[in-house]
Amino acid sequence: MRDPPGTAKQCLSVQISARRDVAAGIFQLETIWPGPAPRAGQFFLIKPRRSACFLGRPISVAEYDPAENRLRFLIAKRGRGTGELAALRPGDEAELTGPLGNRWEDMVPERPRAAGERAALVGGGVGIAPLLALGAELAPGSYDFYGGFKAAPFGLEGLECQDLVTASEEGLGGNQGRISDFFNPAPYRAVYACGPLPLLKAVAAACENSRTPCFISLERPMACGVGACLGCAVATRRGNRRCCIDGPLFPAHEVLFHG
Ligand SMILES: Cc1cc2nc3c(=O)[nH]c(=O)nc-3n(C[C@H](O)[C@H](O)[C@H](O)COP(=O)(O)OP(=O)(O)OC[C@H]3O[C@@H](n4cnc5c(N)ncnc54)[C@H](O)[C@@H]3O)c2cc1C
Ligand code: FES
Repeated sequence: MRDPPGTAKQCLSVQISARRDVAAGIFQLETIWPGPAPRAGQFFLIKPRRSACFLGRPISVAEYDPAENRLRFLIAKRGRGTGELAALRPGDEAELTGPLGNRWEDMVPERPRAAGERAALVGGGVGIAPLLALGAELAPGSYDFYGGFKAAPFGLEGLECQDLVTASEEGLGGNQGRISDFFNPAPYRAVYACGPLPLLKAVAAACENSRTPCFISLERPMACGVGACLGCAVATRRGNRRCCIDGPLFPAHEVLFHG
């Protein structure tokens, strides 16, 4: 019997075991996480042990290897919190709280899977992170991966997808343009997406037109991360939901993108 999403979590001090720059302003952090095993779609609140920030920043699980408890994150440096994370080096200590939020496996399409039908994973920029973790949970070859980037593609090594489609707005790898322009949801059993809001809106609209079930991972600024402060509201057809505990994954048709 599984714990309901978000209930099995811990706040632990861990040591950074590896750090790697993967593109301008984008880096990976790795650690050994001895707490409850995360599932794809979930996230951690993270900050360095010595930090000027009161709150950890929400970061998705990009990879978790249960054999070694190895946990990997893919992070874009944006402001103070992620700037502090970018300065971490192997051996430094960080505080992690998690795993938090719901899991991709909780997002189940209503119709049964037809033989050979695949899923599509559509990510933009560091939004690929929770989809990398999802890919690792799916059977090899049972999904296609679409990655959209401003400049050169990054972070796609090791995917066991059938087709890999990339797009770069600056024409630095794969198709030139936005990944949503190279994506047709019609052949897919389900679509899972994460990335900037314009990408999510375009993917959700295309899925609605083709009646393809679509599930998205949303970002909201977060404080408590456990449903207590109501600071991460997402407007949905069922009223306001908390991104940290009711999400971050939502069926796209429930989300009021303009609400
Ligand atoms: C569930 C979840 C999973 C996430 N996973 C990842 C991930 O895997 N990798 C990654 O790089 N980032 C991820 N993010 C976004 C990351 O949390 C923010 O970039 C980070 O909190 C910014 O903090 P900061 O102190 O560096 O920047 P700040 O100084 O707080 O802000 C810098 C800029 O980022 C914006 N911002 C602040 N918080 C958020 C937020 N939560 N979401 C979006 N924009 C924000 C601000 O409005 C501002 O424009 C995730 C967010 C959520 C909610
Ligand atoms: S961050 Fe506090 S309720 Fe979501």
